Amino acid sequence: MATLFSCGPEEDAKQYKIGFSQCVSNDAWRKAMHDEMYRELSFYPDLSLEIRDAQGNSATQIQQIKELVASGIDLLIVSPNESSPITPIIEEIFQNGLPVIVVDRKTSSNLYSAYVGGNNYEVGYTAGQYIRNVLNGKGNILEIWGLRGSSPAVERHRGLLNAFQGSDINIVTEINGQWEKDTAKNQLSEHLLKENIPEFDLIFGHNDVMAIGAHEICNSLNINNKKFLGVDALPGPYGGIQAVTDDVLDATFFYPTGGDKSIEVAHKILTGDFFEKENILQTAVVDSSNVRIIKQQTDKIIDQQDNIIRQRDRINIQMEIYKNQRTFLFVFGLTLLIAIISLIYIFKSLRDKQEINEELKNKNKEVSEQKDKVLELSQKAEKATQQKFEFFTNISHEFRTPLTLIQAPVEDLLKNKEAAPFKPDLLLIRKNSMRLLRLVNQLMDLRKLDSSKMFVKAAEHEIIPFLEEIMSSFKKLAMQNGITFKLIADDRNIKLWFDPMMLDKVMFNLLSNAFKFTHEKGSIIIKVEQNALANEVLIKVEDTGEGMSKESVKHIFDRFYQGENFSQSGSGLGLALSKDLIELHHGYIKVESQPGEGTNFTVHLKNGKAHFNSSEIIEGEFQQYFSEESISFEDFEPVPIVEDSTDSKENTILVIEDEKPIRDYLCKQLGKYFNIIQAENIETGIGKALDQVPDLITIDLMLQQKNGFDIVKALKNDIRTSHIPIIVITAKKGIEERIKGIKLGIDDYITKPFSFELVLERIKMLLANRQKLREHYIHELPVENTAQTKQSPDKKFVSNFTSLVEKNISNSQFGVNEICQEMGLSRGQLYRKLKSLLGYSVNDYINKVRLKKAKHLLLTENSPIADIAFQVGFTTSAYFSTAFKNHFGITPSEFRDQQHQN
Ligand code: FRU
Repeated sequence: MATLFSCGPEEDAKQYKIGFSQCVSNDAWRKAMHDEMYRELSFYPDLSLEIRDAQGNSATQIQQIKELVASGIDLLIVSPNESSPITPIIEEIFQNGLPVIVVDRKTSSNLYSAYVGGNNYEVGYTAGQYIRNVLNGKGNILEIWGLRGSSPAVERHRGLLNAFQGSDINIVTEINGQWEKDTAKNQLSEHLLKENIPEFDLIFGHNDVMAIGAHEICNSLNINNKKFLGVDALPGPYGGIQAVTDDVLDATFFYPTGGDKSIEVAHKILTGDFFEKENILQTAVVDSSNVRIIKQQTDKIIDQQDNIIRQRDRINIQMEIYKNQRTFLFVFGLTLLIAIISLIYIFKSLRDKQEINEELKNKNKEVSEQKDKVLELSQKAEKATQQKFEFFTNISHEFRTPLTLIQAPVEDLLKNKEAAPFKPDLLLIRKNSMRLLRLVNQLMDLRKLDSSKMFVKAAEHEIIPFLEEIMSSFKKLAMQNGITFKLIADDRNIKLWFDPMMLDKVMFNLLSNAFKFTHEKGSIIIKVEQNALANEVLIKVEDTGEGMSKESVKHIFDRFYQGENFSQSGSGLGLALSKDLIELHHGYIKVESQPGEGTNFTVHLKNGKAHFNSSEIIEGEFQQYFSEESISFEDFEPVPIVEDSTDSKENTILVIEDEKPIRDYLCKQLGKYFNIIQAENIETGIGKALDQVPDLITIDLMLQQKNGFDIVKALKNDIRTSHIPIIVITAKKGIEERIKGIKLGIDDYITKPFSFELVLERIKMLLANRQKLREHYIHELPVENTAQTKQSPDKKFVSNFTSLVEKNISNSQFGVNEICQEMGLSRGQLYRKLKSLLGYSVNDYINKVRLKKAKHLLLTENSPIADIAFQVGFTTSAYFSTAFKNHFGITPSEFRDQQHQN
């Protein structure tokens, strides 16, 4: 992976920049030199080359050398145009530490790093030797010089001269060709065209191009049989080898360019390899004897060089492809690496996530298990609470009965003059049993509120009389303690929609509290104010009592809260209940208090009834309210019982009660005033009611076996008992219960705990009502209209009975037996029902109807009295006259005479 992403050796190796100052470059030899250099460079990718051409001008060359050095080259190659002018700059550069390679032409000193080039002296010398051979040691030479200031020209000349030593060969003419063909041609042509020029056998050009140019000139001047020798032996169509092949030149001498060698040496220098300072390239002669083979070789070399170039180009292309591929591979690899790293990361993340998920899942499971457990526990707790509440509700019911049984005899004892010495104790018993009862009631109310079973039944009432009635329970207490206790109202006729039972409890609580904490000579004021802005009525209870701390005020409506003062006797229920009850009225209650100054409670109730929903409103009929507390707090002095001995034992009461203590108590107490029949269960109760048809029945609605309402229904629907007034005594206090009962025909409702006084008074009242009804029935007689559609069973009974009697009025045999048969009643039942409803026995009643009818007939008909007597069922007119006189105080004939006189 590391190699894959490494940048490769060429990128890693240091790059070297080589500057080459070329003296001239417009000839084939120099071009060959450049080609060799580039060819060689392809083997050294760490080298780059910049060539500057001085175009045969030494000054230009100096300038260019400076520029190259300034550009930051690492090594300078220089082929000096002329030795002397160029030497100083080369020495300077070299001495400054920049490596310098001198190629081909030399400077005048040896201050350079290396020299690469042919041995020009040897070239000249070899050429001289060759010429000696060719000319057999004797002849004249025309020498065409290269640039005279350049070292090859000088050295070649020197070599040539040395080779000629000891021979008869002379250089007869020297021409300055300056290495250039055209210059050489011009100079030669100019020379040849001169007169008296020395004869020559051979022209030796310092290079091939000048020698070839000389050949051309000679040819053009028809100068034949001359030999032409050059230097360089370049391959290629215009090179010396071709010229030898073409017999243009007789011979040429290899003078390698050294381009490849100079690059090789440069690389060695730059990379610190060992290198030779003097790199002398060998020379050799090329003439007709070897030109063919050499040409073949050089052609081959050219081919190979071309091949090499092609290969190099291919390599370059491959390199490019490789680079691209490598770049691609690099990018791909990098992407792959990133992908792999990402994958590893994702995988790791996934694994982590999975682990976290697993952990979360486990935690979730744990939590949900715990939740389930908590739920289960809370359900169990809820169930247990419900059971406790049920138990608590039931036990509360249970408390009521013994409390009733405590209260009732206490009430009796309080009325009993003989018990006068125990009156304070009895009052204490009464007061505390009342208190207990109130607590039980409050607890039960809160329970109802909690189970949302408590509903407001609001009706419109005058608030002032309502409050005054509640106040009346406290008046005595106020008087005893010298407390100013009054009601102040802007308007005494304020009407308000409220549930009297509930508001009664609230006001009773507020007043109880006020009295609890107000000292003697203090004041408790109830204020009733209209708040027109808020469209509400404020009921304030202001006392000058002990007041409360801020902390107590904050919690005073909390359930079971017992503040510092309130703890002395409060249960912490009354105010909590009051708040809930007022909130059921869509109102609210507030408290303000200053310790030591007093407490003000304000109940805010809205005007009108729009804030109640329809189920919370009772219209019209049941507007009467039942204040139990008023019973509890009725005057402290026992109310004397008004004995009415005339009523005593005239009526029979059936007491249906399954709780023996209460039944015994009721029977014992009622027994003083009435005949008592008692029943401990429903069957016995109904049986006795049907059998003995009592004048009144009291029933406990909470009978164990059967719902009390079912008995009421059964009794009220039976013709034999339908007329009997029923008083229900119950522990159930709900208004719904009352409505249900009243709809069924229950005549009165008394809630436990009851005051015997109340029971007695209600019984007396109902019996008196019954008497009135009886009179009403009698007054209605004889019943003319029997087709009344909606009749009560009793009225229906009276109606049926009278019409039956009327129908049979002329039948003297018609009596109890016939009626019992017709109406499906026993003699006793008929007797008691008739007696109860009309106050007469059957025979008395029939008699009364007969006489009433007779009276009517005496008035409307002229029939003889004996006939009328028969018509109304009397067998003899004498008995008719006696009965008529007994009833109306006058005989039938006297009655008729009286009417006639009128
Ligand atoms: C090319 C050339 C060659 C010769 C050499 C000497 O420019 O003239 O023909 O051998 O230079 O420097």
